[in-house]
Amino acid sequence: MKQTNWWKDAVIYQIYPRSFCDGNGDGLGDIPGIISKLDYLKDLGVNCVWLSPVYDSPQDDNGYDISNYRDIYKPFGTLDDFKKMLDGMHKRGIRLVMDLVVNHTSSEHPWFKSAILDKNSPYRDYYIIKKGRKNGRKPPNNWSGFFGEKAWERIGDSDEYYLHLFTKGQPDLNWENPKVREEVKNILKYWLDMGVDGFRCDVITLISKDQRFKSVFPSIAIAGQKYYVNGPRLHEYLHELYRDVYANYDCMTVGETVLSTVEQAKLLVEPQREELSMIFNFEHTDSDNYFGVKYFYRKFDVRRLKKTVDKWQGELAGCGWNSLFIENHDQRRSAGRFGTDENELRKESAKMLGATYFFLQGTPFIYQGQEIGMTNAHFQSIDEIQDVEAHNIYNLCQKMKIIKPIVGKHLFDVSRDNARTPMQWDDSEYAGFSNVKPWLMVNKNKDEINVKQSLEDNDSVYKFYQKIISFRKGNEVIKDGEYIDLLRTHKQVFAYKRKLNDKEIVVISNFANKEVKLPVLKEMNNFELVISNYENNSEVLKPYETRVYKNY
Ligand code: NOJ
Repeated sequence: MKQTNWWKDAVIYQIYPRSFCDGNGDGLGDIPGIISKLDYLKDLGVNCVWLSPVYDSPQDDNGYDISNYRDIYKPFGTLDDFKKMLDGMHKRGIRLVMDLVVNHTSSEHPWFKSAILDKNSPYRDYYIIKKGRKNGRKPPNNWSGFFGEKAWERIGDSDEYYLHLFTKGQPDLNWENPKVREEVKNILKYWLDMGVDGFRCDVITLISKDQRFKSVFPSIAIAGQKYYVNGPRLHEYLHELYRDVYANYDCMTVGETVLSTVEQAKLLVEPQREELSMIFNFEHTDSDNYFGVKYFYRKFDVRRLKKTVDKWQGELAGCGWNSLFIENHDQRRSAGRFGTDENELRKESAKMLGATYFFLQGTPFIYQGQEIGMTNAHFQSIDEIQDVEAHNIYNLCQKMKIIKPIVGKHLFDVSRDNARTPMQWDDSEYAGFSNVKPWLMVNKNKDEINVKQSLEDNDSVYKFYQKIISFRKGNEVIKDGEYIDLLRTHKQVFAYKRKLNDKEIVVISNFANKEVKLPVLKEMNNFELVISNYENNSEVLKPYETRVYKNY
């Protein structure tokens, strides 16, 4: 099948289904809710949707724990609803990328149930089950997972344990078993044959584990990662999926490359290697923490962000494809993180962040609500939070007697639920998301920040996003131009140029809450100012001002 690489021209909108729109009045978002908002997406200008998991699931981790890969979680709707949604998207020129979660299944998946129940089950070898040390009294090694738990769970009172890098309800699949790989291929074909356009591959860099299963010393957070991140057979497995499935469809794959260096990630996307279309890496989101751990907070510094962006833009140029994002369902909202979400400058800051990442090389993703400048929830207590990760870490801190007020408050601020509060459609009691109390609290600022208001206000963040999306469309300089960093060491300004032959685009953004004089702006006199968030053409950039220029 001819690969058209359509995804290089895509602007992708991520929908987190349980928080997007409740169509049946049960307080939980669903597929009919999404269908009712398809025109909204079309008007925004996006041409692809990444849908977080809608498969059948006990929802231990909000759907990232799948119990049936071929059916829909009932409260979200039916397969018929799904097909209607897909058709509605395609009619509007919007493609659909599903979430593919195959590092693990749910512990409620029939494969796992059978594997646990019966030692001779053909599904036993679908999972990673090992005898414990000390006659089964200790787990097979000292690995720990991503949510602050040990990575092994004992099977009943037997001497065997199963591996789970996330919750106990998410047992890891054994990719060494060719039957598991065949199952995954069949799942892929099932959805692709239905018309789906690609997959966002959840924690894909974890699927191959070093078969020696060695302990690590010292064992600190995410212990054992060197044995299970970018494991020995990762590339082989991904190429096998490409060869046997993706090559036969004009589809795209974006791999979530957790804890990967640029050198490792590059190998996943060099086109001749035939593995993935693009990578979704997180290094830039670590510009406000130490050691890549969000709980070790440090004040955001734009120089760290620039350094990381420069590295990924430079290294992948001509040999791989980046995804571009500042938010998703696992990250807190961006305005209050890299700019400000305080009243006066909230809008300017959200727009500035939008323009800054949108014209880099790669495919931009917008997370639901980002386009109206939704903000963090400012949770006050653990009871307001639902996320299993936050609860696990909270319990761990309690156990370790880490001082509650410090950890507590900070934990709430970085919790993933900040991004998962219901989408704010209007200023009604439940923000137009639902007419009953939603599964997670509505942000208190729904009266000021909502879609209805954004559509009426010509100066809204939403209207700004419409502009940047439309400027990107069909623009060869943004798609293929060289990335050149400008003002690299500047303390508050992020500036870069994109260049294709003699056509140039320059983006200049002030990341600070204060003005900055930039004499270099004089040189832009012969450029056209195409997008900005202030009426200003002076040598002084206002707080959080952004300007996009072109010379053609
Ligand atoms: C990454 C997903 O984005 C996250 O939400 C989930 O908890 C883990 N993978 C486990 O599937």
